[in-house]
Amino acid sequence: MAIERTFSMIKPDATARNLTGKIVAKLEDAGLRVVASKRIHMSLAQAEAFYAVHKGRPFYEELTKQMSAGPVVVQVLEGENAILKNREVMGATNPANAAEGTIRKEFALSIGENSAHGSDAPETAAEEIAFWFSKTEIVG
Ligand code: CMP
Repeated sequence: MAIERTFSMIKPDATARNLTGKIVAKLEDAGLRVVASKRIHMSLAQAEAFYAVHKGRPFYEELTKQMSAGPVVVQVLEGENAILKNREVMGATNPANAAEGTIRKEFALSIGENSAHGSDAPETAAEEIAFWFSKTEIVG
């Protein structure tokens, strides 16, 4: 199986409730390795750029405001099938549809305040990792 890297973000709703460790534990328990990590407070402009793919959608303004409202933890995860595995551990975007034991089922407050973000494909993983990390910050 392919060893992949994916991008993961612990969102402001989760950092505010001191859930960083619990979320990372779920990722590590699933076999994912944190090979880069930093806590940042992104600007509204950074949030708008990071989520530019959603520009024009009805939730874009609320999303970018929420993502710049408090600290986040940006991470690079590595492991077998890391992109899909991270999405499985996170659960469905809407916590109402998330499976038992997933991050969003246990911790998310709503579809907007859904505690975690993860890349959805190899191309977006590469883009999202490069958005927040330089090569020297990723240590496998
Ligand atoms: P995320 O994985 O960070 O990608 C985009 C985010 O937009 C998503 O998680 C949700 O937190 C947020 N969002 C808010 N409303 C919606 C919606 N109706 N559909 C999809 N994403 C939404």
